[in-house]
Amino acid sequence: MSSISAFRFVCFMFFVAWINEVGAGKIVFDVTKYGAVADGKTDNSKVFQNVFDKACQSEGYSSVLIPDGKYMLGPVLFAGPCKGPIELVINGALISDTDVGSYGNKLFHWITFYRIDRLAVVGGGSLDGRGPSAWPHNTCSKSKSCNPLPSSMGFNFVNNSRVTHLSSINSMGVHMNLYRCSGMKFDNIHLIAPEDSPNTDGIHIGESTNIDISSSVIATGDDCVSLSPGCSSINVTDVWCGPGHGISVGSLGRMANEEDVSGLTVTNCTFTGTQNGLRVKTWASSFASNAFDLTFQNIRMENVYNPIVIDQQYCPYDNCQKGNSQVQIQNVKYRNIWGTSRSKIAVALECSQSKPCQKIELSNIELVYSGAGGPASSSCNNANGAAYGPQKPPSCI
Ligand SMILES: *[C@@H]1O[C@H](CO)[C@@H](O)[C@H](O)[C@H]1NC(C)=O
Ligand SMILES: *[C@@H]1O[C@H](CO)[C@@H](O)[C@H](O)[C@H]1NC(C)=O
Ligand SMILES: *[C@@H]1O[C@H](CO)[C@@H](O)[C@H](O)[C@H]1NC(C)=O
Repeated sequence: MSSISAFRFVCFMFFVAWINEVGAGKIVFDVTKYGAVADGKTDNSKVFQNVFDKACQSEGYSSVLIPDGKYMLGPVLFAGPCKGPIELVINGALISDTDVGSYGNKLFHWITFYRIDRLAVVGGGSLDGRGPSAWPHNTCSKSKSCNPLPSSMGFNFVNNSRVTHLSSINSMGVHMNLYRCSGMKFDNIHLIAPEDSPNTDGIHIGESTNIDISSSVIATGDDCVSLSPGCSSINVTDVWCGPGHGISVGSLGRMANEEDVSGLTVTNCTFTGTQNGLRVKTWASSFASNAFDLTFQNIRMENVYNPIVIDQQYCPYDNCQKGNSQVQIQNVKYRNIWGTSRSKIAVALECSQSKPCQKIELSNIELVYSGAGGPASSSCNNANGAAYGPQKPPSCI
């Protein structure tokens, strides 16, 4: 080889190495190159944390790569702001540290993303929260002031981001928890926990806006998707829920000066064997707020206990204060809802005496009782609105 072609060859090899490092314009940070051990036992929290920080502080598009393998880690905080868009590529399986005590920080998630713009979580890998060892520590069925168990992924103040092709099983608490996020898209995710696991909501959203959830399967012990106060512009499309408690707005009205909930659109979803289908609930004795512009359309119910329910007398504990809810529910549309109800009351619109529901629409409802003995019925209290098209059970509005 002449010295010129040798020089060319060396340059070419440097170029190949550089291309490998930057990927398609991305700088790749492979956790195994920084000491992560995929033996399912070694605690990788520190390594993951350091690698994320490095990627976050590098200019341009950075990518944190978790290759195939089983990685154990305790709580990690992936905090921005980052210097550019960042992705977390999870090809491997992440398993949690089963010591519940180690999660005692105030953010209280297993993997927390904080103050990040343009985050992508991708890769086809999985999260295992190893819930069975944590669930006995859950006291929330007994007490209102319990501490929730950590969610598997928490997104706090995260904007313009995407989570795709990810599985999560047996979360200790909620699978995905969103707080003060805007512009987030979830698709092709699979969230699974047993039907009797406590408070394992699929996606819980609080004080967030412009959230899109689509093409996903959520089978858990609690709500499929739940919205707490301060949520607006949320779309849920093409999601299979069940088992679990269905899609839920609320419980609203627990605190003074709560922000409203508005603009939820649920389209083309299927509920199988869930406790509820489409539920809006407010505390029996509540502070004032509003829930409005909620649309539920093209929904199939399969053996759902309460397919359509507004409950303004929500009180899961013995010692709740009785009273009238001060939450105003308005402009709620149920369009093309069909299938089977496991209870006889397939449609229950129990609104507040002091704030009757306004502009409720029931269009093309066909829900039949799946048990023996008589057709399904509906039940209304303080519900105003109109019914259009075929109604099974007969509308009570
Ligand atoms: C996210 O958006 C909010 C509201 O637009 C903004 O105040 C906040 O700074 C943004 N956060 C990040 C991390 O970019
Ligand atoms: C929700 O769907 C509507 C109607 O298709 C669309 O205009 C809106 O941009 C969507 N919002 C989000 C957050 O995806
Ligand atoms: C819902 O399904 C119908 C029928 O398959 C389809 O035409 C429509 O585009 C879907 N809506 C959304 C928002 O995906």
